[in-house]
Amino acid sequence: METIRLIDDLNPPPRLLMGPGPVDVDPRVLKAMSMPMLGQFDPAFTAYMNETMSLYREIFQTNNKWTFLVDGTARAGIETMMVSILEPGDKVLVPMFGRFGHLLVEIAQRCGAKVVTIETEWGSVFDPSQIEEAVRRERPKMVALNQGDTSTTMAQPLKDIGTICHNNDVLLFVDATASIVGMDLPVDDWKIDAVSIGLQKCLAGPPGSAPITFNGRVEEIVSKRKHIEAGIRPDDYTAGSGTRIPSNYFDLSMLMDYWGETRLNHHTEAASMLYAARECARIVLQQGLKESFERHALASESMVAGLQAMGLRLFGDLKNKMPNVTGVFIPEGVPGEKVRSQLLNDFGIEIGTSFGPLHGKIWRIGAMGYNCRKRSILTCLAALEAVLRQNGYKVGSPGAGVDHATKVYRAAGE
Ligand SMILES: Cc1ncc(COP(=O)(O)O)c(C=O)c1O
Repeated sequence: METIRLIDDLNPPPRLLMGPGPVDVDPRVLKAMSMPMLGQFDPAFTAYMNETMSLYREIFQTNNKWTFLVDGTARAGIETMMVSILEPGDKVLVPMFGRFGHLLVEIAQRCGAKVVTIETEWGSVFDPSQIEEAVRRERPKMVALNQGDTSTTMAQPLKDIGTICHNNDVLLFVDATASIVGMDLPVDDWKIDAVSIGLQKCLAGPPGSAPITFNGRVEEIVSKRKHIEAGIRPDDYTAGSGTRIPSNYFDLSMLMDYWGETRLNHHTEAASMLYAARECARIVLQQGLKESFERHALASESMVAGLQAMGLRLFGDLKNKMPNVTGVFIPEGVPGEKVRSQLLNDFGIEIGTSFGPLHGKIWRIGAMGYNCRKRSILTCLAALEAVLRQNGYKVGSPGAGVDHATKVYRAAGE
């Protein structure tokens, strides 16, 4: 009892989250999450489920019937796709260009797949011909690829990869967690078989829901592995001929029965997360998908102009930079972690550190979702300039960062 009295009310400090995600959640989404609970078979709730499926078909630019939410953070979506498609010994090709390529490898290996990789230096991406050559050489069942990898701030061009995979009878799975609605991803036009995402980046939502979509090629594989848990099996049930999917929670065949017309019981849907996912999609679609891409591109241009005007050097191949996150080299002699903690403690602003070979070398600064706006970018640049100055860095002409970033918005009429 004593302990309970000593724990304060939940009162998170106000922050401006300008890292690689999560970012500030749109207040409309927070409001949606506070709506009353409903049972998952309440007709009002199943109507919300169906609406959510339609909304995410638009987000993914697909006609795929199977477009729904997996409960869990973004990697729950990756794990669902992989554990349901891959059987032990299946070959998977992962073209890796950052930390999240390693995550795809890790999850595929845990599914018992034989994983082969091709790698490119962090800060670069693949030419489609490199992926094509590896597909022809390795003949995998699946290519698994990130669209954007926040660890390197790079985005892999995907337009031709689906055709390469289809021509070689290979499935293409894309993790677009970091890029969805910040960059174009026409799933059907680009012949992508399966995609998974999260809410916590350009969709301006909280982590905890993983929207997915997949086509008939995936459905066929999964249906052969169909297994319904004892206790809810219908009388006419016959199990699929393939191996049972080794996860109950992430079993796509059972999730399809849950989200489809059958409405067969499975988990208790995370209703508040569904409300959040539904509102995230509504916000973007009310504005327009194209407008969302343009808003993120403009934010990127403004952020890049501001940082460069401060004399800072940017990381990676800027032609393939994700619009929503920018890598900045920590200038020689400047204490990277001290700058981050001063930004947090003096200004309430979070920017990102980095992993692996980039650890201690770059900061990652995001401008996405709710913070993909002039005010957040200018505030972040002004604070960064002050903190850099306090740590002995010569910023060049004072105020240049904010001025150049503002100029980009002014030119766009804002
Ligand atoms: C490209 C990418 N994939 C997957 C993930 C993992 O997402 P989560 O932490 O929500 O499981 C992230 C998180 O930053 C990501 O950027």
